[in-house]
Amino acid sequence: MTPHTIAPLSNPKIGNIFCFDDTRCAFIITHPRARTIKLMNPHLDQLQAYPFQKLAKLFGEVTANKALKPISLHIGEPKHETPQFIKDSLIAGLDGLANYPTTIGTDALRSAIANWLARRYGIPTPDAKTQILPVNGSREALFSFAQAVIDSNKPNPAVVCPNPFYQIYEGAAFLAGATPYFLNTVPEDDFALNFTQLPEDVWLRTQLIYVCSPGNPNGRVMPLTEWKKLFEMSDRYGFVIASDECYSEIYFGEDKPLGALQAAQQLDRGDYKNLVVFSSLSKRSNVPGMRSGFVAGDAKIIEKFALYRTYHGCAMNPAIQTATIAAWNDEEHVAENRRLYAEKFAKVISLLAPVLPVSKPDASFYLWIKTPIADTTFAQQLYRDYNVSVLPGSFLARESHGVNPGENFIRLALVANLNETLEAARRITEFTLKLNH
Ligand SMILES: Cc1ncc(COP(=O)(O)O)c(C=O)c1O
Repeated sequence: MTPHTIAPLSNPKIGNIFCFDDTRCAFIITHPRARTIKLMNPHLDQLQAYPFQKLAKLFGEVTANKALKPISLHIGEPKHETPQFIKDSLIAGLDGLANYPTTIGTDALRSAIANWLARRYGIPTPDAKTQILPVNGSREALFSFAQAVIDSNKPNPAVVCPNPFYQIYEGAAFLAGATPYFLNTVPEDDFALNFTQLPEDVWLRTQLIYVCSPGNPNGRVMPLTEWKKLFEMSDRYGFVIASDECYSEIYFGEDKPLGALQAAQQLDRGDYKNLVVFSSLSKRSNVPGMRSGFVAGDAKIIEKFALYRTYHGCAMNPAIQTATIAAWNDEEHVAENRRLYAEKFAKVISLLAPVLPVSKPDASFYLWIKTPIADTTFAQQLYRDYNVSVLPGSFLARESHGVNPGENFIRLALVANLNETLEAARRITEFTLKLNH
């Protein structure tokens, strides 16, 4: 039977209607781009626009006040200078370019990381051979980890994420064939993970949970009690914990943020069962372009992840391995980095406090501030009138349990230099004062 009428539908996502016969109502619905789509992984269509794309669209609707110099506080990209000794080590490592690097990195690199972990967290030195793996920044590792962990042969795999959250977790879940489920982190709970938000049937299907401590965007550090609860849940339901700790070294004062490996040790879980930590030099050492991080934890999981990465082909560049060793072995530059952030936080908070509900986070370089008007309107008008870019909180979260928990918040990344950051804070103060009158 050959169709004699072809009626394209108005919605191109649905396709065309083929009518076979005037009396017999038989229709076939096909996709007009079926050939293209069949060739690609359909999970790609589940990916959302990145927050900065949404921001570009929001700002594209207005014109920024060109009389004022633009200041960006929207991207969490460190802008302090890269220490000279790291650049020198990179150059010193260039001879390594003559060899293919291995996925697991050199013994010297893994030992430097293991020793840093022991010094930083006061834990027994992790086994550099089995419990450590270098990665090219934590982002790629957070993504590829889900591809290695998720067993999509089991029905409806679930990945749990905090909400708001670092977008990579969601994309990683989708591409692994899983469904992300969100735990809203809200001021009423002091931004803690509230595990009661998800029903038992979701926990039974959960294979992986991402947690972020210190958190992006709220800078909160998970206390030991919360780790205890999370480990209990992992034992009960058998899921893997991916602990994203890339802001662990940006803290104020003497209190160092608790790390997951440290929490595990304190709770007598020395084998780090089902726990893998993700860390990075990007923020600690101001080298976001170097792409250097590591994962550490459960040796059984790390072994399989290393196997996955061998095929993935993501060994760390040898020169970067050399610079990475130098960076983890030095704390002086990190202390200076923290001093710069602490100074900015103290001054910015005193400028903003009279007009906005702002307080110092436990750690990280973010301020997560409740806005007096819709977050998108706040960000758009601030950009239009004062040429300052901040990120609307709703772009960092998904609607879940009937709300978008990022709504009516903005995220400020205090990454620019002191003068620029203070100038931005003054403009935000003036803008907010005008809103209130
Ligand atoms: C929460 C969080 N995790 C991970 C990353 C990735 O950092 P990197 O890949 O530079 O280690 C970022 C970057 O901004 C982040 O905000």
